[in-house]
Amino acid sequence: MLHLESFLAEKQRVVELALEKHMPPVDERPRVLHEAMRYSVFAGGKRLRPILCLTVAEALGASPEKALLPAIALEVLHTYSLIHDDLPAMDDDSLRRGKPTSHIVFGEANAILAGDALLTLAFEWLAGCPAPEPYLPTQYALELAQASGHRGIIAGQVEDLAAEGQTPTADMVDYIHRHKTAALIRASVRMGAIAAGAPPSWLDALSLYGDYIGLAFQIADDVLNETSSPETLGKAVGSDQARNKATYAALHGIEKAKRMAVDLVEKAVVELKKVSRDTSVLVELARYIVSRDH
Ligand code: IPE
Ligand code: IPE
Ligand code: MG
Ligand code: MG
Repeated sequence: MLHLESFLAEKQRVVELALEKHMPPVDERPRVLHEAMRYSVFAGGKRLRPILCLTVAEALGASPEKALLPAIALEVLHTYSLIHDDLPAMDDDSLRRGKPTSHIVFGEANAILAGDALLTLAFEWLAGCPAPEPYLPTQYALELAQASGHRGIIAGQVEDLAAEGQTPTADMVDYIHRHKTAALIRASVRMGAIAAGAPPSWLDALSLYGDYIGLAFQIADDVLNETSSPETLGKAVGSDQARNKATYAALHGIEKAKRMAVDLVEKAVVELKKVSRDTSVLVELARYIVSRDH
């Protein structure tokens, strides 16, 4: 039995070191921009997306270093999405990763710009990191752009905001969750598989694994928003209800939402059987996604 906690801690250490090496220094001009970029990136965070990318690459037989730049590109892009998600015009949150949000510390304009800079930096890193055969050299950038752009995170965020105050429907929450959250988690898994030069049938199975755990991840986020505490979660609780957000918890209730997340994880695990490698750590990661407390 794998010790998931120590596995996660070791992978987090690898991600921190790579981020430390590649992030611009704090004293680069304009200082406030680089301070704000580093403040949010190094505020903590589970590093789930880069860990998925590294772990999939490793499970398929690639050395994890091959997936390191895609992994940290995923993390800085994710961090941008959090900075913008917390802005007054969006979720208007003042706590993130256990610290005051970027706009509280640096002001709204600098928070927007730090987010823009992190989004751009992700693609700068990928431009210097060609994907291996049989993939296009530009495949990583394509994956990240598709997951984060107008058919990915941004689409989900637009519908998430538009749904505030409306009676949620199953179609509405499914669309929002698949786009705002599952798309990037799926891309994290795919980019790890691509780094290992995975054959198409494995990539397909892993894409479904990513879809299922991605949706389960956001359902768990909805549940924690109602059941956790700011101390444990590092961000506000009860805010989804307060803003009348379209969530699985609002639509189905906490208990059913939890069961749905567990069912999705089991579907994800079935997909892993199509990959003839030892994927036991990916089974553990999938289960962690719904059992986590923050
Ligand atoms: C929070 O993501 C935003 C969602 C997409 C639900 P995480 O829960 O992965 O946040 P960090 O990176 O650990 O702070
Ligand atoms: C976050 O969704 C999704 C993105 C940042 C793209 P939420 O708004 O539900 O996540 P939290 O709860 O603020 O982390
Ligand atoms: Mg939001
Ligand atoms: Mg939010």
